[in-house]
Amino acid sequence: MKKKRRAGLAKRYIKKRWDFLSQDRKGIMHIEGLPVTKLAKKYGTPFYVLVERKIREKMRLFREAFPYHKLKIQFASKCNSNLEILNIVRQEGGEIDASSIGEIILALLADFEPHQITFTNLNKSEQDIYFAAQIGVQAITVDSYEELKKIEKIGEALDKKIDVFIRVNPLIEIGKYSTKRHKYGIPFTNVQKSIDYAIDSKYLNLTGFHFHGGYVTTYLGYFRALKKIFKLIAHCKKRDVEIKSIDLGGGFPYENDSPHYYSPKDFGKKLIKYLEHLCKRHEVVQPNLIFEPGKAIVMNAGIGVFSVLSKKKLPKRAMIITDASTYGFLPDVLVIKADYPILPATKMNRRRIRTYDLAGCTCDYIDMLEHNSKMPVLEEGDLLAAMDCGAYSNVMSSNFNTLKRAPIIMVYEDGTFKLIRRRDRYSEMFAPEMDVLKVYGDPDELKKYYNVFRANIDKLWGGKKKNGQNESNGKR
Ligand SMILES: Cc1ncc(COP(=O)(O)O)c(C=O)c1O
Repeated sequence: MKKKRRAGLAKRYIKKRWDFLSQDRKGIMHIEGLPVTKLAKKYGTPFYVLVERKIREKMRLFREAFPYHKLKIQFASKCNSNLEILNIVRQEGGEIDASSIGEIILALLADFEPHQITFTNLNKSEQDIYFAAQIGVQAITVDSYEELKKIEKIGEALDKKIDVFIRVNPLIEIGKYSTKRHKYGIPFTNVQKSIDYAIDSKYLNLTGFHFHGGYVTTYLGYFRALKKIFKLIAHCKKRDVEIKSIDLGGGFPYENDSPHYYSPKDFGKKLIKYLEHLCKRHEVVQPNLIFEPGKAIVMNAGIGVFSVLSKKKLPKRAMIITDASTYGFLPDVLVIKADYPILPATKMNRRRIRTYDLAGCTCDYIDMLEHNSKMPVLEEGDLLAAMDCGAYSNVMSSNFNTLKRAPIIMVYEDGTFKLIRRRDRYSEMFAPEMDVLKVYGDPDELKKYYNVFRANIDKLWGGKKKNGQNESNGKR
């Protein structure tokens, strides 16, 4: 059936990563067999689509790529923290890398247990640490010597040993890839002081080491980081401390057309062999191996659909004004100069004979989605689709120009769909300012979340699995 659906697709749009795409005789893009025009009519534009099957496939890809009995895939929820995505990650046996208390709370609401969540960032208030320690997350990742002392202080107040990972910058350099200017973690050259401090502390329990390499452009980065981390593990062993987890972070590229793209499958088996070899050589018990992929899980699952509003003829240029923007819809175009493939979603069967500049709708003149975009002749009302935008889009979008952020629709393999985030409402956009007119802040805001993991969240998600088994059939 899928083959038949894909049969109509123009050759240039046939890509393995977009195997959910097809088009009908009128040239309308279908996603898992569902015409985008149907979604546009129901929800208005712009909107994001997430393809459920792709998210599951990527979670499974990581599991298959790293054949190791103590592997943990902790989805970096910062890249798209939608509750339905977190629910899928849980169903696929994944865990969560949370970068804030807000993300911890979302993970709890998605029915993760506290021990399935690690808390990693560069900025933890005492209140944040207190919250994470109190509910008992798997580990708080320590980013600096100063933070170590801060966490210890909370441990003392709670009279509890807090489980910590020490985040290390291994200071590696491989060709153009280097962590030598990274802000993450404690530099390798002086990390021993922090390790010893943690080991000697009455209120800290050093259970792991963490590395996150940003955009890891070569997979050799993971090998080098592992090698350096084992030097630290050897030191811990001398001090009679067993390290239970090694966390090699995220930073995997998402599937794209670049010749530099690599898949976890290209090196996963080798990395596991190397890990096993290092364990043998240092005579240590095999630790948990954690990865924290973000964009590699959800980027290819996301499509941003938006409309042509108008056309403007300029000297030697033609401009298309759209109802999307780089502020409220595809912020990475501005932030990292991301270059999303943009497809003519209602003219998939037409030749791309025109060159347009595609403009965002906000008042800022730098709000341009793409320059020199090759397109068929476009008219008001045509739909465009930005592909591979499932990560760092909606979560980084702002309400600039006091515009509402877009809704998200999950599309399933059988062509059914579900709204998983509605469009913003003015009332909530104005609330932070309206509130201060009435009362200044809410100092006890966090209290109501302390027991969230004990709440009957089963009701929210239906049949709950235990022990990481799949429940992929009960998706809705
Ligand atoms: C600690 C940590 N882990 C994982 C990630 C996810 O990175 P990516 O989406 O590149 O996989 C990030 C991203 O900033 C991060 O800071």
